[in-house]
Amino acid sequence: MSIEFSDEFDFENRIVDTSSIPEDVADGENPLRPRTLDDYIGQETVKENLRIFIDAAKQRGESLDHVLLYGPPGLGKTTLSAIIANELGVAVRITSGPAIEKPGDLASLLTNLSSGDVLFIDEIHRLSRAVEEILYPSMEDFAIDIITGKGQMATSYHLPLPKFTLVGATTRAGQLTAPLRDRFGVVLRLELYTPEELARIVERSAGILGIKIERDGALEIASRSRGTPRIANRFLKRVRDFAQVLSDGVITLETARIALERLGVDELGLDNNDRRMLEAIVKFYNGGPVGLETLAAAIGEEAVTIEDVYEPYLMQIGFLSRTPRGRCITAKACEHLGLPFPKGTAVTPQPTLFDN
Ligand code: ADE
Repeated sequence: MSIEFSDEFDFENRIVDTSSIPEDVADGENPLRPRTLDDYIGQETVKENLRIFIDAAKQRGESLDHVLLYGPPGLGKTTLSAIIANELGVAVRITSGPAIEKPGDLASLLTNLSSGDVLFIDEIHRLSRAVEEILYPSMEDFAIDIITGKGQMATSYHLPLPKFTLVGATTRAGQLTAPLRDRFGVVLRLELYTPEELARIVERSAGILGIKIERDGALEIASRSRGTPRIANRFLKRVRDFAQVLSDGVITLETARIALERLGVDELGLDNNDRRMLEAIVKFYNGGPVGLETLAAAIGEEAVTIEDVYEPYLMQIGFLSRTPRGRCITAKACEHLGLPFPKGTAVTPQPTLFDN
């Protein structure tokens, strides 16, 4: 069954979209990207541990062990990989799982690295089996075996590789095969940022872009950015437009509020699509539980997108809960939406960063 909504879902053009856009990814040129661990705000535990591992590898004169970064999109996995390379004083080569189509593509990437370099593979869970098969020995023995020809004419070459550091990133660590996961010596989980951390990121970005912003304005943008710097920086640029055209160019609490309301983002960072997804759970599934695939079909979205993009934040703020039988809405979410909490939905929300 699929539910018809009066006005269409607009998953493609969400301002709260966490997928990167060209202005986010032009790596060398994006001035908002921090270049060192000291400039990188938040993820304190990850940073502290990384600093130790990087210093230790440098002291021993060795390459850093392979690193796996996992967590929701937009939290800075690519940025961190470039910082790791910068702190190590080596080059970084950036690619992604789907971009490495054949074993030969990976072989060519690996053979072109210099000793100690960082190879960053985003969406590493999307590597094909054939590519993974040659990644294992590359990671473990820094060598690959290439077979040319077929049958009796087949010849095998053992090709040594420079010692490199693989930094893999994924939104779904659970989807990595065990042999791949086991080959990462350092596994780090990135968490959604607190509003306080995001406000510092917004203030830092505003400083770089020459935007005048008051502390309350930065906090307002931060608290509507779903724990995600990529969203916070995008909001900053759009709110600047409103501040410039509608007032004196300074981002205040008032201008931030007006701008974000006009962009359809409420005080918790939910947009129409979040609200409609939550409303669908209440109206069509009596508050849940509803299976992920059923919900995805009902709102015309892919299950992975719901899992990776919408759910982490909705669960973090205690609006949605995952049970073995499916997704359930919470009383807190119903209160926010102004809907009665359906009877029979027994969900205890977990404490969140936003409580206390
Ligand atoms: N810009 C995007 N993410 C950032 C972070 N974690 N620290 C500083 N600036 C950022």
